[in-house]
Amino acid sequence: MFTIREGRKEDCRQLVDMFAAMDAHLKSTADPDTKWTDDPNVCVQQLEEDGFCVEESQRRFRIFVAQSVADPQTLVGYVFYFPKYSRKGRGVWMESMYVKRECRGTGAGVALMAAVANRALTDGCQRFEWSCREYNHGSMAFYKKLEPIDVTHDDQDIVFRLNAPKMRQLAARADLS
Ligand SMILES: CC(C)(COP(=O)(O)OP(=O)(O)OC[C@H]1O[C@@H](n2cnc3c(N)ncnc32)[C@H](O)[C@@H]1OP(=O)(O)O)[C@@H](O)C(=O)NCCC(=O)NCCS
Repeated sequence: MFTIREGRKEDCRQLVDMFAAMDAHLKSTADPDTKWTDDPNVCVQQLEEDGFCVEESQRRFRIFVAQSVADPQTLVGYVFYFPKYSRKGRGVWMESMYVKRECRGTGAGVALMAAVANRALTDGCQRFEWSCREYNHGSMAFYKKLEPIDVTHDDQDIVFRLNAPKMRQLAARADLS
């Protein structure tokens, strides 16, 4: 059993541990020849600063956690997300979600996403978006139950990323007045 609540600064250590477990999960489900292009995960101190600084307008993300009822000090899952804005107006982007293996299949995943959807609608958002690695078959099956639009397939919308070296190359061409 679990309860859902907003994340707190003191959750950061457990969150970083779950980020590592998330990476391990992805690596275990990927094809052996998968190209890994991600940077290392954020550290506890950076996460605390980025998500829980005193000045709320400076916070870079929002988070809900699933907390064990039997052991309230223990988190069993998280979802983190942030506001997104497009020419269609307000939305949210779900960056990452994880439920510990021993708690899967008990409704925590849906409860975490429901909390984001509820908050987003309260904030006037009309779109809830995320990405998922195609080889992550379990999560794909879980998400498909929510009947989302597959924007890669239906809108042919491809997600790109520049990591820091390519960002620096591009930024060198900036000419702002
Ligand atoms: C994906 C994940 C968050 C789902 O969390 P969960 O707590 O197990 O999901 P729930 O218990 O809320 O399940 C909701 C529904 O999805 C279904 N479902 C969950 N996992 C599934 C799976 N692997 N295959 C098929 N269906 C699945 C459940 O049966 C349930 O269906 P129902 O509504 O008909 O009863 C969890 O499996 C996880 O953390 N996976 C590893 C990390 C990961 O891949 N995260 C997502 C990255 S994009």
